[in-house]
Amino acid sequence: MSRMAKLELDGKSYELPIVEGTEKELAIDISSLRAQTGYITLDDGYGNTGSCSSAITFIDGDKGVLRYRGIPIEEIAGKSSFVETAWLVIFGHLPTIEDRERFSGLLTESSRLDESMRKHFEGFPPNGHPMAILSAMINALSTHEPVVIDDDRDLEEAAARLMSKVRTIAAASYKASVGEPIVYPRYDMKYVENFLHMMFSVPYRDYEPTPEVSAALNLFLALHADHEQNCSTSTVRMVASSQANMFASCSAGVCALWGPLHGGANVAVIEMLEQIRESGMPVSEYVAKVKDKQSGIKLMGFGHRVYRNFDPRSKILRKAADDLLASMKIHDPLLDLAQELADVALSDDYFVERKLYPNVDFYSGTILRAIGIPLNMFTVMFAIGRMPGWIANWKEIHDDPKGRIYRPRQVYVGHTGEHWMPREERHYDEED
Ligand code: SDX
Repeated sequence: MSRMAKLELDGKSYELPIVEGTEKELAIDISSLRAQTGYITLDDGYGNTGSCSSAITFIDGDKGVLRYRGIPIEEIAGKSSFVETAWLVIFGHLPTIEDRERFSGLLTESSRLDESMRKHFEGFPPNGHPMAILSAMINALSTHEPVVIDDDRDLEEAAARLMSKVRTIAAASYKASVGEPIVYPRYDMKYVENFLHMMFSVPYRDYEPTPEVSAALNLFLALHADHEQNCSTSTVRMVASSQANMFASCSAGVCALWGPLHGGANVAVIEMLEQIRESGMPVSEYVAKVKDKQSGIKLMGFGHRVYRNFDPRSKILRKAADDLLASMKIHDPLLDLAQELADVALSDDYFVERKLYPNVDFYSGTILRAIGIPLNMFTVMFAIGRMPGWIANWKEIHDDPKGRIYRPRQVYVGHTGEHWMPREERHYDEED
């Protein structure tokens, strides 16, 4: 028998069940609240609202803990490739040798786009935003791919097709934007190496990534693989709850991820650092602007709705950036500037009191810059990394026998008691 929360309302007492997760998170199940009391809850930004129960990822924001299917991110980082991490996130355990070989084969076999898909790239302008292209092309994929998923075998094949082809789409959109011929995937290359080949090879010269570059991009993608009910994953679940197919749901996830408050922050961080560097402004002066509410300036790559401590991913990415730059014998002044900015912020009461720390986006751009990924594709790289998490969340909705459509309520605050009137009588003053 679960514990009950007691609610006193209008002189009446009500009881609501308390739910406890496997990591001891506590929730009040309010699914009977409106039927019992006539009241709904209101929670701006869903800061206190659990939309679902999920078994994929656990975050403890106070302790800076992140686990995929119970495994700490620190144990996954550097040990599991992105593909292995994707399998873990989607199917719930690390892949066996057979799982790995089968899934890798599926990824390789489905890496090519249908020739007719290539025509879309001729229609996009060279400066078309890669996130718009990615979202559009994922839906275009669904016109070529079987979207009915009856069992885990279908799911694995669909997941492989989607994960494999988003990589090809991203590279093809880059090639189209720089006027280079689209490069076909190679069947003798692993996931990350094949992506880099399609991005940077040209007909007269193959691109061969160093082991350090491949490892850094595998790590980047694995660290982005899932993150509980963030904005874009919640969007995927919202769309999936109407029983829309996986491609449509993930295409919607791309759109939600695009915003600078979410996945678009990895671009905004670099733009912020470049603006500080080009202005010659002392870091302390920029931080002062951030603290001045009137400025409307945020410290991009800092803060998080859940983490009230370091985002464990930012620590791992910070070291990975150093290691990659050292292996390439390059120096990125923006990384030094980022560190200086972080040092100033982390010793300033404004940030300490609000528990604002570097998040996944603060250092990740340094790795992408070093690899040569163009800035406008940084959020596309986040999307490629997050695809397994979106697929896993789509699967949780799809596999749920109760499968209710997501349909939040609202508190109406608009006009009341209005009536229709003829056009000549319609006069409205400003505040209407
Ligand atoms: C991602 O949810 C996820 O898991 C997302 C993600 C994932 O893997 O999917 O982790 C990926 O999206 C990371 C976040 C990337 N976004 C940014 O870096 C943009 C900059 N950060 C902020 O916009 C903000 O911190 C958010 C959007 C991340 C979180 O916003 P919240 O939880 O709504 O926080 P808030 O706006 O209520 O801020 C609380 C206070 C406010 O000050 P006061 O009103 O109390 O005086 O902190 C301040 C805010 O003004 N604040 C910041 C700040 N973030 C919060 N002040 C300056 N710079 C910032 N970055």
